[in-house]
Amino acid sequence: MDGAGDRAGTARPYRICLVCLGNICRSPMAEVVLRDVLERRGLGDVVVVDSAGTGGWHVGEPMDERAAATLAAAGYDGSRHRARRFEPEWFAERDLVLAMDRDNLRTLRRLAPEGADVRLLRSFDPDAPEDAEVPDPYYGGREGFVRVLEMIEAAAEGVAEHAARAVGRAPERR
Ligand code: 4NP
Repeated sequence: MDGAGDRAGTARPYRICLVCLGNICRSPMAEVVLRDVLERRGLGDVVVVDSAGTGGWHVGEPMDERAAATLAAAGYDGSRHRARRFEPEWFAERDLVLAMDRDNLRTLRRLAPEGADVRLLRSFDPDAPEDAEVPDPYYGGREGFVRVLEMIEAAAEGVAEHAARAVGRAPERR
């Protein structure tokens, strides 16, 4: 058996890595939101989520203050994040790599081995246009971070459903 079916009933989790440029704004926000959705759906033990940046300028730093504040205002805790750079070896340890924008996607696809599952995060939002991005909020104002959070929340449910199918579990809705 191949595909989703061979995961059902096994101990191996489904592993998702969220990737942006700096790993201090968009992808760590997406990591926190997606983990929350997965936990609420009873998938926290079978789907593992992390994040990274394609660039290394901010490695070791906490989340951007505006990103953390936007999360906190919506009831999420982004305080534990420390930025990392995506390493090509990680493809072997991830089932799905989700890029925030098309630049990130291009960078990842250049690094990716054949068969790697690399997509745009917003491709999981049924209401988003084709090729929709989560735009870089770094040089803009606080309202850009609010928009980023809305886009992430709109896509996270679809990612959770995809992961639930991959592990052979229908998501538990609240
Ligand atoms: P992120 O935002 O990719 O969403 O983490 C950025 C963070 C830092 C920079 C660019 C984007 N930077 O140029 O340092």
